[in-house]
Amino acid sequence: MSELTEIVLQIDGQEVKATAGMTVLQAAQQAGITIPTLCHHEKLEAFGGCRLCMVEVEVRGWKNYVVSCLYPVAKDIIVRTRSEKVDKIRKVLVEELMAHAPDAPELVKLAEEYGADRDRFERDASFCIVCGLCVRYCNEVKQKNAVGFIDNGARREISFIPEVAKEECWGCQECFAICPTSYAQAAYLLTEALAFPGQRKAPIHAIKPPEPVRRVIPIMPIAATT
Ligand code: SF4
Ligand code: FES
Repeated sequence: MSELTEIVLQIDGQEVKATAGMTVLQAAQQAGITIPTLCHHEKLEAFGGCRLCMVEVEVRGWKNYVVSCLYPVAKDIIVRTRSEKVDKIRKVLVEELMAHAPDAPELVKLAEEYGADRDRFERDASFCIVCGLCVRYCNEVKQKNAVGFIDNGARREISFIPEVAKEECWGCQECFAICPTSYAQAAYLLTEALAFPGQRKAPIHAIKPPEPVRRVIPIMPIAATT
């Protein structure tokens, strides 16, 4: 059995031991150092979509800004999870996301932390920040593909596939709990109301939300049919 190569790097002035193949985000989390994330989930392949986990990396005196959930650890690199520039980048990213979901508790908390102005960008309250957690979780963990992306670029959005959602979603609901904005739940209920009212499978008591549980807030007045 091959031994895992140990790599020592510095994160926020602290010597951190990691193993080859880990990302900077994983090394930081293992050392108890918090880096904000919106599209990361420990059970999923890294996605690199939200860019909120951006950190400053110094290699032989050269500074660079990298997405820590994708960037691999390397010997002797110096990582700073907060700096003036890192905070500025996160502030703008949060402001952009708040144009879509201004009241999402997770974004509100990040806005407080980074001094973001929720009204800086023109409002486009789609409620979805296209983090892809619901789509990837349903695909990679549940292997059901009940929800997917449609369209591309700025028009990209998520959509439930009624034939699959009718059978699978109500007894699962795991993507409702990991969605940072509650839109996954609203989108499912809308799909149900339009495509298969009153025909969902599995009772509500079957729900076992996974850890970590994000707070689900009601964002759309859609009546669930029974
Ligand atoms: S519905 Fe929620 S989990 Fe799915 S992509 Fe949108 S914000 Fe992310
Ligand atoms: S958590 Fe790294 S890009 Fe979203």
